[in-house]
Amino acid sequence: MNVDIVKTKFEEKFSSKYELFCSPGRINLIGEHTDYNGGFVFPGAIDKGMVAAIHPNGTDKVRAYAVDLDAYTEFGLKEEDAPAESWARYIFGVCREIEKRGGKVAGFDTAFSGDVPLGAGMSSSAALESTFANALNELFSLGIDRFELARIGQSTEHNYCGVKCGIMDQFASVFGKAGHLMRLDCRSMEFEYFPFNPDAHGYKLVLLDSVVKHELVGSPYNDRRASCERVAATLGGEFLRGATMEQLDAIKDKISEEDYKRARYVIGEEQRVLDVCDALKRNDYETVGKRMYQTHWGMSKDYEVSCEELDFLATIAEECGVTGSRIMGGGFGGCTINLVKVELYDNFITTAKARFNEKYGHEPKVYAVIISDGARRL
Ligand code: GLA
Repeated sequence: MNVDIVKTKFEEKFSSKYELFCSPGRINLIGEHTDYNGGFVFPGAIDKGMVAAIHPNGTDKVRAYAVDLDAYTEFGLKEEDAPAESWARYIFGVCREIEKRGGKVAGFDTAFSGDVPLGAGMSSSAALESTFANALNELFSLGIDRFELARIGQSTEHNYCGVKCGIMDQFASVFGKAGHLMRLDCRSMEFEYFPFNPDAHGYKLVLLDSVVKHELVGSPYNDRRASCERVAATLGGEFLRGATMEQLDAIKDKISEEDYKRARYVIGEEQRVLDVCDALKRNDYETVGKRMYQTHWGMSKDYEVSCEELDFLATIAEECGVTGSRIMGGGFGGCTINLVKVELYDNFITTAKARFNEKYGHEPKVYAVIISDGARRL
C-alpha cells in the first residue's frame, strides 16, 4: 500500500502530525449478489487497499487531499455541506453516517491514496469507507463496534453514492484476516473464518482484470436488487434466502421471465457457497472450481451481469484446464477470479494474455492474491 507517498503528501499539504490508517479491498471466492438477498458470501481481504494520514484540525471542516487524483477539497459536516466531487462524497458520507448514529465527528485534515485497481470489482470504495470509518472511530473515541463500522460504509454507498449494495465488501474490508476467507451469513450476520491456503495444495488464486470498467452507480446493480426483492415479496418473504427452486417454479406465472432468471441464479448461488465451504474442508479444490464455473455462467446467462470480455476470459480458462474461473464482484466488467493448478499457471497466463490481446487489443492485467488483514491503524 502507498504509505510513503501518503506521509509525504500529508506533510506537504498540512504540515502537522498525523496518524495512519488503512483498509483493504477484497476478493470473493463465491457467493455473488447473495448479500442483499440475506444469503451467504465467502470473501477475503487482500493486500491492496487504501491508506490515509489523518489528523483533527480543530475546525468544523474537513480538508481532504486525494493523492491519486491530485485533487483537493474542503467541506463542512452538515447534511447541506455535501461536496460535489464524487471521491469526497465517500468521506463526507462516512462522517454523516457516524453523526446519524449519534457519533460526534469534528473537522480533520487528510491525505489518502489507494492501490486497489478502480472498477476492477475489488471494492476500492469499501476500502475508502472502512479506512475513514475506522480512523474517525479511533481518533474521536466513538466506541463504534466493527459491524457498525461496516454498516456505516454500506449506508454511505446507499445514501451518498447511489448504490444499494449489500454488506459484503465493507464487512470483508473491516473483518479481514490474513490467510483466511470468511463465510458470512448476511441474514444473521454470523460469520466463520476458514483457513485458505491454496498454494499448500498445489493451486494458485489469480485475478485477470479485463480493464473493462463497470459503473454501478444508479445502475443495473440496483435493478438486479429490485428484481430479487419483487420475487421475494411474491414468495411472501423479505429475502430470497431460503427459497427453493420448487417455490420459485410455483410462482413462475406471477413474475416476469427476467425476474425468474434473476431469482434462479440467486437460489443456485446460495447452495454453491455452502458446497464450496464443505469442499474446502476436505481440500476438494475440484468441486470448488466446478462451482466457480457454474457461478460464472449463472451470472452471465441468468443474472446478466457479465460482459463479452469476461465470458471470453472464463472460456479461455476452461480451455487451459483451469480448475475454476468466474467473474468476481458486482459485474459489468472488472476481473475474473481463477483457481489454477500450479503446473498449469504459466501456460494459462501466457495464453490468456495473448488471446485477449489478439481479440481486444490489450492484455488483461494479472494480480496475484494475498489474503490479508482488515481495517487497522498502521
Ligand atoms: C458489489 C456490492 C456487494 C455485492 C457484490 C456482488 O461488490 O458492493 O455488496 O452485492 O457487488 O456480490
